[in-house]
Amino acid sequence: CGIVGYVGSRDSIDVLMSGLKRLEYRGYDSAGVAVIGADGTLKTRKRAGKLAVLADDVAETAIPASTTGIGHTRWATHGGPTDDNAHPHLSADGKLAVIHNGIIENFAAIRDELEGQGFTFSSETDTEAAALLLGREYAETGDLREAFQRVVGQLDGAFTLLAVHEDEPGLVVGARQNSPLVIGLGQGENFLGSDVAAFVEYTRFALAVGEGEMVAITPDNVEVTDFVGNPVQSTPFEVQWDAAAAEKGGWTSFMAKEISEQPDAVANTIRARIGADGLVHVPELEGLDELFRDISRVVVVACGTASYAGMVGKYAIEAWTRLPVEVALSHEFRYSDPVVDSSTLVVSISQSGETMDTLMAVKYAAERGAKTLSICNTQGATIPRESDAVVYTHAGPEVAVASTKAFVAQITALYLLGLHVAHVRGSLTSEQISDNTAELQAIPAKIAEVLTQHDEVAQLARWMSDTRSVLFLGRNVGYPISLEGALKLKELAYIHAEGFAAGELKHGPIALIEPGQPVFVVVPSPRGSQTMHSKVVSNIQEIRARGARVIAIAEEGDVAVLPYADTVVRVPLAAPLFEPLLCVVPTQIFAMELASAKGLDVDQPRNLAKSVTVE
Ligand code: G6P
Repeated sequence: CGIVGYVGSRDSIDVLMSGLKRLEYRGYDSAGVAVIGADGTLKTRKRAGKLAVLADDVAETAIPASTTGIGHTRWATHGGPTDDNAHPHLSADGKLAVIHNGIIENFAAIRDELEGQGFTFSSETDTEAAALLLGREYAETGDLREAFQRVVGQLDGAFTLLAVHEDEPGLVVGARQNSPLVIGLGQGENFLGSDVAAFVEYTRFALAVGEGEMVAITPDNVEVTDFVGNPVQSTPFEVQWDAAAAEKGGWTSFMAKEISEQPDAVANTIRARIGADGLVHVPELEGLDELFRDISRVVVVACGTASYAGMVGKYAIEAWTRLPVEVALSHEFRYSDPVVDSSTLVVSISQSGETMDTLMAVKYAAERGAKTLSICNTQGATIPRESDAVVYTHAGPEVAVASTKAFVAQITALYLLGLHVAHVRGSLTSEQISDNTAELQAIPAKIAEVLTQHDEVAQLARWMSDTRSVLFLGRNVGYPISLEGALKLKELAYIHAEGFAAGELKHGPIALIEPGQPVFVVVPSPRGSQTMHSKVVSNIQEIRARGARVIAIAEEGDVAVLPYADTVVRVPLAAPLFEPLLCVVPTQIFAMELASAKGLDVDQPRNLAKSVTVE
């Protein structure tokens, strides 16, 4: 879910609606706002559906000017997406409003207790339990800060909570436990948000609220304490991108814009991190030599697209460092009694830095004594804060729910990490490292070249818009790309798509091939391994013989595929380990264009949210 809070002299409804617009990628099945009007009463509007539904409602029913408010955009957990279940939720007297992100695990017990005391519930949400509880505590204390502190201490689970009370205009209180919250620092105004996107239009100065901390903002003051009220010091940071970076510009969708930004995503992630000596110089990794020398294995934890970036990284890191690398889905890792100890480096990958499954995996690994390093695209996010070290990707804000530019930036960061560790451990010579960093530096221009084929790939997608199933085959570093290509199609076009390791074809998937079945094949460079290349070309022949419609993604000059492929999408020559950064691009374009041809919303696919902050 996305959360925003405001106190200051602007009309808060404007600030809340523009903040929610920027946070909509975090959830978009319902939205709501509560503001304290100039007449001193609390006004609430909440609607199921996308933010536009709420925006129409707000526009129609003129809400009086207000200077204090909270807003929420929801991804449903407890209770379906209905008007009633939308946030904010109110206290029994209707004077106090609460919004919430996360899951309150002991809500049933609180609900029972409150019902026993005569309170009635009007929604199925866990949040309403917190709202009614806060109302009860307020009735006793008459002080929002104190009542809030009492409530926060009674909640279990993961939550970011914000609250306002009509008798205390000019005050928004908030708390966080295992769920994100950031403060935006203004002049005579202050903001709260799930991430900096909520307020970057108004201020670039931010303060991260730590785990188990509470905050009270007024127009001129920000007070951060722990859950028992002890003051906490935190250091402000400046947001490195501006509001325009999170806007669509002239593009038809955020996804189209973000796909086109991939050359920059890679270029910015390596910028100032490769020295004139061709070695990797990432300031955040300096001083960790001993750690990198002492480890005996690496475990990558991530979910979704980030996990496929991890799989690509495994091939490279193993090749360069000779350290064994295991890639685990965060949620599987966390509950599998994994083998980790102080000689394990756990590398988490997360665009948002907030994915709860991944956060829990990192915390668990740290408890078991592992070293933790985060690869993350969002400054001040929870996962990097919980990790021993961080390498930020500099892809810029990614708004479309399906990840594209963050993926190539994640692979880039993993490669920087791998090459740096190889240097520290002496597993590659300086010359070998600089050959690889030179390859990396050449990638942005090569991605730009792949992007010039957008129209051809779009045409192909339009022709195939009634396809009900698409398969993807790849081998070695092409294997995770086949998984990622299939995931993009599932996410965006809602059709069955599956990625396979090409060598696995004969062990089962070939039975799926029937005349007309579209199959994307990521063809490895013959310059890497002639044998592997020949085997994949044989796979193409095998499926072609059974009627498959083959779309080959192959490097320039690879003529071996020509007799068998129906379509060949070309990528420029690159060292084999770097090819995924190029081969993924046509699969992204294909999924986006096929979904568009079906008339679907590519930025906000059904049932998904960009950062899933529940386990
Ligand atoms: C969600 C998104 C995916 C994303 C995954 C991991 O499921 O829908 O697109 O890959 O989370 O997100 P993260 O922010 O941790 O990279």
